[in-house]
Formats: sequence, structure tokens, C-alpha cells
Amino acid sequence: KEELQKVEAFNAATASEIEDFRIKYLGSKGLLKQYFAAFKDVPNEEKKEYGQAINQLKTAAQEKVNALKAALDHTIEKKGVYGDLTRPGEAIELGARHPISLVKNRITEIFSNIGFNVSEGPEIEDDWHNFTALNLPEYHPARDMQDTFFIQTNPDVLLRTHTSSVQVRYMENNTPPIRTISPGRVYRNEAISARSHCFFHQVEGLYIDKDVSFADLKQTLQYFTTEMFGKSKIRLRPSYFPFTEPSAEVDVYWGLETETDYRMTKGTGWLEIMGCGMVDPNVLENCGIDSKEYSGFAFGMGIDRIALLLHQIPDIRMLSENDVRFLEQFKSVL
Ligand code: PHE
Repeated sequence: KEELQKVEAFNAATASEIEDFRIKYLGSKGLLKQYFAAFKDVPNEEKKEYGQAINQLKTAAQEKVNALKAALDHTIEKKGVYGDLTRPGEAIELGARHPISLVKNRITEIFSNIGFNVSEGPEIEDDWHNFTALNLPEYHPARDMQDTFFIQTNPDVLLRTHTSSVQVRYMENNTPPIRTISPGRVYRNEAISARSHCFFHQVEGLYIDKDVSFADLKQTLQYFTTEMFGKSKIRLRPSYFPFTEPSAEVDVYWGLETETDYRMTKGTGWLEIMGCGMVDPNVLENCGIDSKEYSGFAFGMGIDRIALLLHQIPDIRMLSENDVRFLEQFKSVL
């Protein structure tokens, strides 16, 4: 009875295991042979029960062998799938985050640590959100600062040239205090080269509350560059944007004598990394915010440029070619 249970529970995956099993029970020197040989020594009154038991065992063993062989044949037919269970597995290729995502995530993290949320908006925009609300009325010469791809004219539909359009949408739909950053892809009709592309990525930031000053802007930028690039020096140069007054360009010092950490590529001199300024009162009013009660600052930077700097990438086009040999180099960067 014990043997019967063993037989019924037996399982095997290879031909040799099945053969071993067959020899053990059904072979010419197998267990069943021995049991049959012992039959003559069994007392008469037990002969009937003993005989039935060994016959049952023999049938069970035979059936088991047949069933296992059939299963094995079936597996071999589907060869390559289950055929050789000892075959080494196929390695799973791990992906890597794109350098644009790496830099975007880092910028987002740095600003979320001081209370900024993330807002997004459409890449196809109307004239109002990309230009007019931002103090760039029709025929304003500053519109030429950003060569635009138009999808339709009159009324104008275009590919957004900056994510300032998202800030307009955010102001229209929220009340101060506002602390938001808007990452996203933008488009400009520019010649493609190693340094510039007809699309790239930006993170723009907006902070609006009572009594926000230029000092708050400068301190926020210093905090950001220190977190992003290591201990760094920044400089603000007067500049012009229609939507901010005053406006400035932010340079970060990229020099050998700067006390920087490994993240900073050794180079020389001041490097422009973003534009910024105090939000023009007209823009606040255009978006339904009382400019007598509230003030704020805004800034915008290109993610691609920063990715090139941090990872020593020589050509901006590499960021959109999707060459795996390039992309897989970012596997170890978190
Ligand atoms: N929108 C500007 C650009 O795309 C950047 C910017 C944002 C400048 C906010 C000042 C304030 O160039």
C-alpha cells in the first residue's frame, strides 16, 4: 500500500528518470518481480488480498510510466519552450532613464522641497496663452525672439514656444499664493545644430504671493544652483522679457577654481542657464490677479542645455536620436 502511494505520487521530467522508475518497479529484477516471487510464502488466508495488492501496484506502475512518457513526448514536440529545463535563462535587459528625465526629475525634486508643485499644459497653444496674456500683443517686436511654428493662422494655433503658457493657465485657474513649476517640451523654428534644436525642454517656475521681492527670487535661484550643481556662484545680468520687469539672465560660474563637486563639468567662465524676473503687473491683471495686492517672480530654464553640461554630452541631437548605445550609458544614474 505504501508503494502504491509512492507510485501514484511519482513525477519525472526527463526520459532517464522515467526509465529509472520503470526499472525499479517493472524491471526484470524490479520490486514487482520480488513481490510476485514472495507470493508463494504468503499464508493462504492472506493470498487473495496480497495478490490483489501487487496486481494493483503493477497496473499503477505501468500506467504511470505510460503517462509520463506521453507527457514527455508532448514537451519535446513543443521543443525550445520547455525542452531543456537546465538551459540558462535569457537575461532581462534593464532600461535606463533618459537624461532629459533625469535632469527634469532632479529640478522638480529641488523645487518641490521648497513647496513648489508641478503643473502641465498643452503643447499646442492658442495665441492668448503663448503670447498675448504674457504682455506680447500682436505685432510686438519681441514675438520675434521666439521663432514660432504655426499650425493655423487667424485665429492662431501654434506649438508653444515656452512653458510660460502653462503659467498663464495656472494663474487663470488658481488664486495666490502660487508656487508652481511647469516642465515640458517646447518648439522653436530654429536651425538644428549641435547646440540648438527645433524642440527642447524647459522648466519654468512661478511664485506669486503678497510682498514677494527680487531678493526672494535671487535667494531661490542661489538655493537651486547649489542643489543642482554643487557649491556654485551665480550672477544676474539685466535683460529684457516682455512678461517680467525687471528681468535678468542668470549665469552660473563654471570654472576650475570654483569649489564644485563631481556633478560639475570643469570648464571656464560664466554660463547662462536661465531667464528670470518679477512678473509684470500687466500679466497678473491679464490672468485675473490683483497686481496691487500681489507680486511675484518667474524664471525659465532649458533642461537640454543643463543635461549637456552635467553629463558632458557634446551634441544636443544625441538627446533625440534614441541610439541605445548612448541611452544605456545612463543606467547607473538615478
Ligand atoms: N519664457 C522665457 C523663455 O522661454 C524664459 C523666462 C521665463 C524668462 C520666466 C523670464 C521669466 O525664454
